[in-house]
Amino acid sequence: MTDRHRPDAMDPRGAAIDDRLAGVGRILAVTGSKGGIGKSVIATSLALAWADEGRRIGLLDLDFTSPSDHVILGAGGQFPAEGFGVDPVLIEGIHTMSVAFFSGEAAAPLRGNDVTNTLLELLAITRWGEMDILVLDLPPGLGDIALDVIRLVPRTEFLLLGAASRVVIGSVRRALRLLTELGAPIVGLVENLRQADDDSVADLARSFGVPCLGVVPYDPGLEDAIGDPLRLRETDLFEAVRRVARLVSG
Ligand SMILES: Nc1ncnc2c1ncn2[C@@H]1O[C@H](COP(=O)(O)OP(=O)(O)OP(=O)(O)O)[C@@H](O)[C@H]1O
Ligand SMILES: [Mg+2]
Repeated sequence: MTDRHRPDAMDPRGAAIDDRLAGVGRILAVTGSKGGIGKSVIATSLALAWADEGRRIGLLDLDFTSPSDHVILGAGGQFPAEGFGVDPVLIEGIHTMSVAFFSGEAAAPLRGNDVTNTLLELLAITRWGEMDILVLDLPPGLGDIALDVIRLVPRTEFLLLGAASRVVIGSVRRALRLLTELGAPIVGLVENLRQADDDSVADLARSFGVPCLGVVPYDPGLEDAIGDPLRLRETDLFEAVRRVARLVSG
């Protein structure tokens, strides 16, 4: 418990987290410095694409203020089983954990240490068991949650989302710089919401020497597929995400 990565060397949850994640092969955090850029839809779709291939997949929604993955998957009424920890809820073959399973539709007004404590608690209690990949859906920005994930689970690999907008590009560039400075592994950059030919996301990836893992089109049919995994699988977005999934998992 003297690990310098621990937020508090006396906190026994640090060791519990290591135990809980011991059977997880890879941990992949989906991020992107901007809000509303498709992190939740793409994190959930990646998990679905891998689960469809027969991989054991976990999905942890780390957006405590606005959890979305259970909505995208159309979860209804499930509750994590408890007893010396809690089991993620199995939805569409994905072992899913979210504060939404505990708080329902209630808002979670967390700030400061509460955010870190909620993250520690979720990581310390969830029984993932043997997983090939655990996908983390991060909230917008590279704030407390992302920094805590890097500190608590330094083997986490980051997949960044970008879009061909100068506002987004500038923000993703800062995120890439920060992750690089912190020594966090970066799997690559995915362009989302593509509407026209524009190489700015691919150029950004190249300038940082990270792979460009694919392009996900703007898909006007996506909204009707939210909450309905069967329809989600038929969207253009999902087809593109499936290709990204294959590239990432090899
Ligand atoms: N490629 C796409 N085509 C069409 N709509 C999309 C696409 N990607 C995301 N969206 C839509 O954009 C909205 C935001 O997506 P999402 O919630 O996944 O973003 P986010 O980055 O997780 O947001 P937040 O920062 O709030 O967590 C959703 O309504 C989603 O369905
Ligand atoms: Mg989100």
